[in-house]
Amino acid sequence: MSRKKIAVIGAGMVGATTAQRLAERGYADIVLTDIVDGMPAGKALDLEEAGPVVGYDSHVLGVTTTEPDHYKALEGADVVLVTSGVPRKPGMSRDDLLGTNAKIIKGVCESIKKYAPNCILLLMTNPLDAMCHVAMQATGFPRERLIGQAGVLDSARFRTFIARELNVSVESVHAFVLGGHGDEMVPLPRYSTVAGVPITELLPPDRIDAIVQRTRQGGAEIVNLLKTGSAFYAPAASFAQMVDAIVLDKKQILPCSVLLRGEYGVKDLFVGVPVKLGAGGMEGVFEIKLTADEQAQIDKSAGAVKELVDVLPRVM
Ligand code: APR
Repeated sequence: MSRKKIAVIGAGMVGATTAQRLAERGYADIVLTDIVDGMPAGKALDLEEAGPVVGYDSHVLGVTTTEPDHYKALEGADVVLVTSGVPRKPGMSRDDLLGTNAKIIKGVCESIKKYAPNCILLLMTNPLDAMCHVAMQATGFPRERLIGQAGVLDSARFRTFIARELNVSVESVHAFVLGGHGDEMVPLPRYSTVAGVPITELLPPDRIDAIVQRTRQGGAEIVNLLKTGSAFYAPAASFAQMVDAIVLDKKQILPCSVLLRGEYGVKDLFVGVPVKLGAGGMEGVFEIKLTADEQAQIDKSAGAVKELVDVLPRVM
């Protein structure tokens, strides 16, 4: 059986790190693209040359895509990951990237539609949920094949902070962060557990509040430290986990941004909810019972996504 083909669009910090993690899996050949002359080919060659040392045979092809037909390299791709776009600078919110990144995503997605019309498309460019909306309009893909990455990352941050607070392994901590990937995201302490025990039984409310707040600001905390660019190790690791679930047909329940059709009281917006990821992409929305307060937080977060989506026609 031949290896799967995965394309990573954007060979910057998130894209190149994702390509590395995927090449190391060994289950797919990778196409890495960017608009910068030579750069994706250089990074691809470097990644291939790590293969003998690390022990993988994945082929990595780097392609500079300055013309639409350069996307021919994507033909036959099973999964396409989009990371192209600008990251934020200190003081910026993800929403400040809206106009610039919407134009980039539209162009990239039109090419993906042309050359890889049957792929499962995963996005990470911010502001994430609104960019999924742009991708949907540009590709017309069904919601099963268009999925945004945010919840795995936000939940990973939440899990890290919980594990450090309780001095337990991160592997013993499960957590769900739902809602849009913005300041209004919704970490759910009741569904966040250590060895199956909700953290609401393990930590006092003020500590939980502090951890929730740090999770919401997790991206900004790193932007402020880096000063140029935003987080990429954990975002790339999160992307790779989603790709594992799809390529290995794991049917794993992961929080992802998908087009909702009334689930969680949200209609026609991409918002983060737990979904089943497998060979068919998003194989189902997993509905969990929320309290009135949790539902109100989801409503507020979905409202923030809607505000951005409503602005899109004016900035594109
Ligand atoms: N096609 C392909 N690549 C593009 C395009 C395009 N139309 N426009 C820009 N790029 C490339 C840039 O040349 C750059 O190499 O996207 C890459 C982005 O890389 P970085 O600037 O390093 O940004 P990164 O940290 O990878 O973040 C990318 O992911 O997490 C989000 O908020 C983040 O929106 C940002 C995106």
